Amino acid sequence: MRLHVVDHPLVSHKLTVLRDERTDSPTFRRLTDELVTLLAYEATREVRVEAHDIVTPVGPTTGVRLASPKPMVVPILRAGLGMLDGMMRLLPTAEVGFLGMVRNEETLAASTYAERLPEDLSGRQCYVLDPMLATGGTLAAAIRFLHQRGADDITAICLLAAPEGVANLERHLEGLEVPVTVVTAAMDEKLNDKGYIVPGLGDAGDRLYGVAH
Ligand code: URA
Repeated sequence: MRLHVVDHPLVSHKLTVLRDERTDSPTFRRLTDELVTLLAYEATREVRVEAHDIVTPVGPTTGVRLASPKPMVVPILRAGLGMLDGMMRLLPTAEVGFLGMVRNEETLAASTYAERLPEDLSGRQCYVLDPMLATGGTLAAAIRFLHQRGADDITAICLLAAPEGVANLERHLEGLEVPVTVVTAAMDEKLNDKGYIVPGLGDAGDRLYGVAH
């Protein structure tokens, strides 16, 4: 697994405002959107393209366009939805599939409660959107799911990651025959005993959409 922590002053600046408990939901949503676009720029560095002939007003040339099959963007519900627009701004012709995953707040185990994805993802590059790489359980389950459907290259975009989650994810992915990259805006200090990232930003879903019980 490759890990890429995006080191850029604008990313750090936006992330600082995002973390601040005084930041309200509308601002939190807007900043998430902006941050994801910056992360997506790094995350799509190896998106597959193919040669494409065009004619400019001055003459013919060969450029590139996104290769087929098109990349698949997979937000993990609920909080990953807040990252979707920021991602699609960079990849407007990508397809979108949905994975609903929830973690049991006592055992911290992840389970799938909804999915809307093609049965066959063979040859597809997948971009998973999940704001918090905390224990790594949700992301590991999502990556396994996509791999079982045939995805051959998976990149996860996370706003924040915890060292325990990254180590756990690496353990879960051992032996899995698919390249996995994690792109994140920061590697935080640790997890607390409730599985929250410290210093983190709190519950990403609640901060994006308000508390739903
Ligand atoms: N999920 C969140 O929303 N926040 C955390 O800190 C960990 C998991």
